[in-house]
Amino acid sequence: MSNKSKQPLMLAIDTSCDETSAAVTRGRIVLSNIVASQAQLHQPYGGVFPTVAKLAHVENIDRTIDTALKRAQISYRQLDAVAVTAGPGLAPALEVGIGKAKDLAQQYSKPLIAVNHIEAHALSSLLQRQSNKNKLSVKNTSWPVLSLVVSGGHSEFILVAKIGQYQRLGHTIDDAAGECLDKVGRILSLGYPAGPVIEEFAQRGDHTRFKFPLPMTTSRNYNLSFSGLKTFARNLIASLEKSDQLNKQTTYDCCASFQHAVFRHITYKLEKVLQQHPVKEVWLGGGVTANIYLRKIVRQQLKAHQLKLYTPFSKKICGDNAAMIGLVASFRFAQQQFVSNPNQLTRKPRWPITD
Ligand code: KG4
Ligand code: ZN
Repeated sequence: MSNKSKQPLMLAIDTSCDETSAAVTRGRIVLSNIVASQAQLHQPYGGVFPTVAKLAHVENIDRTIDTALKRAQISYRQLDAVAVTAGPGLAPALEVGIGKAKDLAQQYSKPLIAVNHIEAHALSSLLQRQSNKNKLSVKNTSWPVLSLVVSGGHSEFILVAKIGQYQRLGHTIDDAAGECLDKVGRILSLGYPAGPVIEEFAQRGDHTRFKFPLPMTTSRNYNLSFSGLKTFARNLIASLEKSDQLNKQTTYDCCASFQHAVFRHITYKLEKVLQQHPVKEVWLGGGVTANIYLRKIVRQQLKAHQLKLYTPFSKKICGDNAAMIGLVASFRFAQQQFVSNPNQLTRKPRWPITD
């Protein structure tokens, strides 16, 4: 290994959706983490358009990798391995990162590590800044952990027995939470992604103004469903528009009530999970977990269970980023779990974390 530290030095790449990201990590320390967002490009569609995403990844990838290496002041020669997201994600988007990672691994004779994007979100609370000692570490973790991944593509309760041993306790049966926030934001013309705007508007609104239903209360499993809330919001907005009541304040109230309903559904199911599964810690990951209101209500809920909540160290680490890919790759590196034939590595758009 090329460094004084025993931790592997990793170049990590993620092109699973609409962010082109490259990072350099040493174990769980982030040396650089570059995220080139395509949000502006997808604005007109109100969601991610796969072929547009692919072209933008192709255009951005080299520059993003160069910047990540320069910021970390690391050369290709110094790297211990190259890591890349192999799935799940948008097939055309995944291909770009995989192709680049294969080329680099071959060109510089480095091992190649394939990483699951959901596993990366699930473990992202373990990452730490170079300057800052994060209290959470694998050594100090009390297992089992419940990791709640809430993003634009996924909403899952994952039981982590230890690193690499996962059980998916529940997942969304339709839209993901972030997708649902984005779709309702589109109806309100809030741009893409709408999650952060809804959070901001909600702070100025009254979440008790509009009563949304609580989904899936009769099902005994831990699955989630957001499409009913989306339909309820669509009908509510249409009726407010029709009666000429969709002013600034009702829009804020609508955002507050809708956001509250989305998170109440998550916390309702979280309570069920906690009652049945005596976990020791709860971790959050995924773009939606940047939301301060979500963190607040989950933290309050966990107090009653005397459980601590751990979150990624910054909003950037909540959303799609390659540093979390580097983190997972460092665990695979320790087990020498490399892609045996890089030429055969293909995208896995539906790769489950349990595989
Ligand atoms: O993790 P991520 O970057 O990509 C996926 O893996 O899907 O998550 C993106 C999602 C979007 O739906 C976006 O609206 C949502 O995360 N999001 C938020 C916030 N920031 C991003 N949702 C609610 N509140 C936020 N502050
Ligand atoms: Zn993601």
